[in-house]
Parts: sequence; structure tokens; C-alpha cells
Amino acid sequence: METKRKSSFTGSLGFVLAAAGSAVGVGNIWRFPYLAAKDGGGLFLIIYLVLVLTFGFTLLVTDVAIGRRTKTNALHAFGNINKKWTFLGYVTFLVPAIIMTYYSVIGGWILKYLSVYLIGSGTEAAGDGYFTSFITSPVSPIFFMLVFLAFTAFIVYRGVEKGIEKFARIVMPGLLLMIIGIGLFSLTLKFREADGTIRTGLQGLAVYLIPNFDGITPARFLEILLDAMSQLFFSLSVSMGIMITYGSYVDKEVNLNRSLSHIEIFDTAVAFLAGMMIIPAVYVFFGTEGMASGPSLMFVSLPKVFEAMGPMGPFLGLAFFLMVLFAALTSSVSIMETLTANCMDIFHSARKKTSLVICLIFAAASVVICLGYNIFYFELTLPNGATAQLLDLMDYISNSFLMPFISLLTCVFVGWIVGPKWICEEMEASGHPFSRKKMYVFMIKYVTPVIMAVLFLQSAGVFNMFS
Ligand code: ALA
Repeated sequence: METKRKSSFTGSLGFVLAAAGSAVGVGNIWRFPYLAAKDGGGLFLIIYLVLVLTFGFTLLVTDVAIGRRTKTNALHAFGNINKKWTFLGYVTFLVPAIIMTYYSVIGGWILKYLSVYLIGSGTEAAGDGYFTSFITSPVSPIFFMLVFLAFTAFIVYRGVEKGIEKFARIVMPGLLLMIIGIGLFSLTLKFREADGTIRTGLQGLAVYLIPNFDGITPARFLEILLDAMSQLFFSLSVSMGIMITYGSYVDKEVNLNRSLSHIEIFDTAVAFLAGMMIIPAVYVFFGTEGMASGPSLMFVSLPKVFEAMGPMGPFLGLAFFLMVLFAALTSSVSIMETLTANCMDIFHSARKKTSLVICLIFAAASVVICLGYNIFYFELTLPNGATAQLLDLMDYISNSFLMPFISLLTCVFVGWIVGPKWICEEMEASGHPFSRKKMYVFMIKYVTPVIMAVLFLQSAGVFNMFS
């Protein structure tokens, strides 16, 4: 019989795998490497690591502890604790709703490239203009997006235990092994330019790891900091209600302190290894200019890299896009699961019916996003100076604008209204110590709200008005 909502993870491994599955997605494999490349490798890496251990940890602990203690999803969790803060649940609901409109579009792109390698057309995909001609075509991106969305909806439709957990148990360990394998292979690459210059994978690794302070001004440093912070929200799935929902499925006996450290380490390790897999390879074949190619890095540069690898290339291309597809699916499942859980609460509806309706709504919304590269094409300058189309606009609204705002309010709420003790009690509810308790209390009360306020003002373009 279908229960109204309650699902739960079986033990801490189930939770860690499912939450890591949510966290590890296109954020780690597509977004992290291109930001790291754009922001000069090593410096971005160091800033990101420091932010994960401080801000990332603080936000992850807060979300999961709120979920487990209130035993409800983000929509009601804040109101459950304090009626006046019910609105925060509704604001949080907006983030997965916005992300879901474009996540399946990117999922569709990945599926398209997987199919290209499956039918042995990797050489075509390595051709100039292939990616642009694909995303601007009217039917193909919509078709692949719909297939990706249907996969996602199917898993959510089957419920948490049968769907997400079983899926994550198979996918996550395999994913890690594949990334390590391709990452190590990347380091063995070597390329000789026509003028005789030789670039190696190890030189590329040095570019990725060693901070380059050339031309770093305070403004540039702030830009890197903001890039790293927006990446952190997206990558860890925090401040979007997902970790609150997942937290509500976790049993009291689970040692949250240990589980959350595992999720934090796993997510960061995958991002780091994805960088190691992509950046040295791009450097070897395209030099430092290739590294600046931005969001298209994965789709434009990597097929060229696979092509240049010779007979091994098509197999690695296939393995790579299969792996990214898995990672994207476990994340999109978590996004849709959150939307489903929230809507089941709002409309008192059953899981199956709710997930079907949500699937249809987001199919329509994602079609509009796909068409943002042809009939709805526009170029909009965002407050951070970037030029955006519909997909980038959605990404900016959710990651750079709404998430810092939600984090700011959550920190004020937990740090100053409810009190960090409430969270610390939940972290210790299983009888295990909360090892980073002092840091957590300091971060949630003082540091995080200030930095989030700065981020929010920056993303809203307020600082630009004074420059
Ligand atoms: N955390 C998910 C990702 O990184 C949304 O893709």
C-alpha cells in the first residue's frame, strides 16, 4: 500500500549513499572543473576546500539536522520550529523548482553525448560547432531532455527505498572508481604541437594544483570567492531543501557527525578528481587558452580530447558520459524527490500521482528552457557581468541569488532565534559527539550570516552601483 509520504533510508550507509548521490552531480563534473580552470586552478581549489570545511559543513549540518529533528520536509520544517518562519520553507521550495527547469536540459545534453559515443560518432562530436548546432536545434535537445526527465520521474515514482537508495548503492562506488581511472589516465597524456612544444598531463596537473597569484587584485579575489561559494551551494545540495527532506528520512540512531563528514569528503573528492580528469587533459591538448572555454568545457573540449587520444578515446568517452549521466540522475532524482515530498504535503496527494503531475509540469518548463537556444534566444547581462540565456538566467537566480538569501535567513533563524544548541542536540542525539561543535556555533552565528549578506548583495548587483 502506498503510504502518504514517509519513506526512510535503511541505516547510515543508505543515507550517505543517497545524500552523496544527490550532492555529486553535474555540479562536480561539469561546473567545478570549468570554474577551477577559469579561476586559475590552484587558488580556486584552496579557497573551495577552505569553504567546504567551514561554510559547506555548517550549511550541511543545519539542513540535515533540521530535517531529522522536525521529521518533515523544508516546506514545513521552519514553520514547525517557529510559526513566524513558515515563509522560509516556501522560499526554499523555489530553488529546486527553478533548478529542475534546467537540470533535465543538461541531463539531456549528457544523454545525447552518451548516445553519440554508443553509436561510434565520437569524431563528429569532436568537430567544431557540434555542441552549438546541437543545442540550437529545435527537436533533438527536447527529445533527450524528455528521456532524462522520464528516467528521473520513474525512480521518484517508485519511492525512496526502492528507487533512490537501490540506485545510489550501485552507482556511487562505481562512479568513484571510473573517475579515478580516467583521472590517472589523464596524467599520462602527452601532446606535441606543430612547433615542437610538448605539453604533458603532469604539467597540466601542476596548473590545476599550484595557485597562480598573477594579476590577483582584491576584486578578482572576491570574484573567485563568490564563484567558489555558489559552487558550494549547488554541489552540496544545501539551501535548496533537499538535505532537509533527506534528513527527515534518517533514523535517530544514525551518527550524523560521521555521515555528514563522509558526504562532505565524497562530494569534494569527486569534484577534485573530476578536475584532475578534465583540466590536465584540456591543458595537454589545448594549452591554457582551452581552459578558459567556460561552461562548454566538458561538451566542446572533452570530445576533442577523446578524439585526440586515438583508439582508446571512444571507449573513454563512452565511460565518461555514462558516469556523468549516473551522477546527474542521482542528483535530479533528489531534486524531484524534494518537489514531490513538498507537493504531497501541500496537496495531500499520493506519491505516484504527485510525481507524475510534477513530471508533466517540468517537462513543459524544460521545453521552454531548451527553446531558449533558438526561438526564445536572448542575451542578458547579469549583475555579475556575465551574458546569459534562459538556462544561465535560471542558474543565476537559483545559485547566486536565492541560495545566499536562504542561507542568510537560515543562519539568522538558527543562530539567533532557535539557537545553535537545538542543532547540536540533534547532532548528538545518536549518542555520538559532535566533533566540530565549537566551529559550527561560531560559523552559524557570526561568520556565515555576514558572508551570505555580502554574497547576496553582490549577486543582486548592489555593489556594482557604487563602482
Ligand atoms: N548537487 C547537485 C549537483 O552537483 C545538484 O549537480
